[in-house]
Amino acid sequence: MREQLERLRQDALGAINGASGEDALQEVRIRFLGRKGELTALMKGLGALAAEERPVVGQLVNTIRDEIETALEAVLAAAREKAKDERLRSERIDVTLPGRRPLAGSKHPITQVIEEVSDIFAGLGFSVAEGPEIEHDWYNFEALNFPPEHPARDMQDTFFVDNSLLLRTHTSPVQIRTMLKKKPPLRIIAPGTVYRCDSDATHSPMFHQIEGLMVDKGVTFGDLKGILTIFTNQLFGQKTGVRLRPSFFPFTEPSAEVDIACVICGGKGCRVCKNSGWLEILGAGMVDPEVYRHVNYDAEDISGFAFGMGIERIAMLKYGISDMRLLFENDVRFLKQF
Ligand code: FA5
Ligand code: MG
Repeated sequence: MREQLERLRQDALGAINGASGEDALQEVRIRFLGRKGELTALMKGLGALAAEERPVVGQLVNTIRDEIETALEAVLAAAREKAKDERLRSERIDVTLPGRRPLAGSKHPITQVIEEVSDIFAGLGFSVAEGPEIEHDWYNFEALNFPPEHPARDMQDTFFVDNSLLLRTHTSPVQIRTMLKKKPPLRIIAPGTVYRCDSDATHSPMFHQIEGLMVDKGVTFGDLKGILTIFTNQLFGQKTGVRLRPSFFPFTEPSAEVDIACVICGGKGCRVCKNSGWLEILGAGMVDPEVYRHVNYDAEDISGFAFGMGIERIAMLKYGISDMRLLFENDVRFLKQF
């Protein structure tokens, strides 16, 4: 019996040292110490021993069980430690790697131009006024001296809401709203969204204008030209070509349109400037007495000028954008360049 126990001890310790991994060690425990294990089987033979031998051999069985148990625990602990080390190594993160930066947004080029233009006019003493995008025919047309059925209404292809409401086709109705509220002297700009049934590389159905209006005693066409020259010089630099062209608007007399030399082609002629070398950015003129009549101003006493510029056109010239539609596609790869 002692020999059998000794062999079992050797076998068990050998198996423990040869086992790799927690699962294999648990199998060794079951094989030797389990309820149906080899040591349990040997203990069944204790009853056949002489009475004085039993306690001695019993003692030996306990010692061997403890020894196997201790060896198992030690190797198990080492195996667990090794497994943990491996896990930590495989899960290790490199804290010196540079992180992923969140994308920083930027202002839309249209917003940037509106802010820049507003800053220039703020410096010239103009304050900001506003009006609604859904407008009455009276403010958008009639008070601006476009009588019903007047052919000049065809200059601006209009989106109507109903017979008397429309999407404003320009920011000029803000002139009327402002003059009805305030008496001269007055110097305002009015940035905002406008709508026309119009669409190609230089025309968008929804676009932005900045209106300007100055009314005071003795304001002349020379003042208008002076303000617009200061403005275009500040926005585009002294070297950019600017020209004033006689034009017609029902609400100004005389009227002019201002063109900027096309920066896309350098004046040689391209799709953007329709081969003319120039791009029209604004309309302007001296406020027509007929408009003063609608807002109860005395045309004998005061005079003034107004202008309305296209923001998208200015953004195209300033940033060299060859198609207005790019400004509204909201492609981040385009927008993040500004
Ligand atoms: C007007 O809208 C007048 N209200 C301007 C004005 C104001 C004249 C005050 C006199 C006194 P016009 O239709 O030309 O005028 O438009 C003015 C500017 O808006 C143009 O020079 C152009 O830069 C821009 N624009 C016109 N139509 C479009 C469009 N479909 N898409 C983008 N920009 C446009
Ligand atoms: Mg025009």
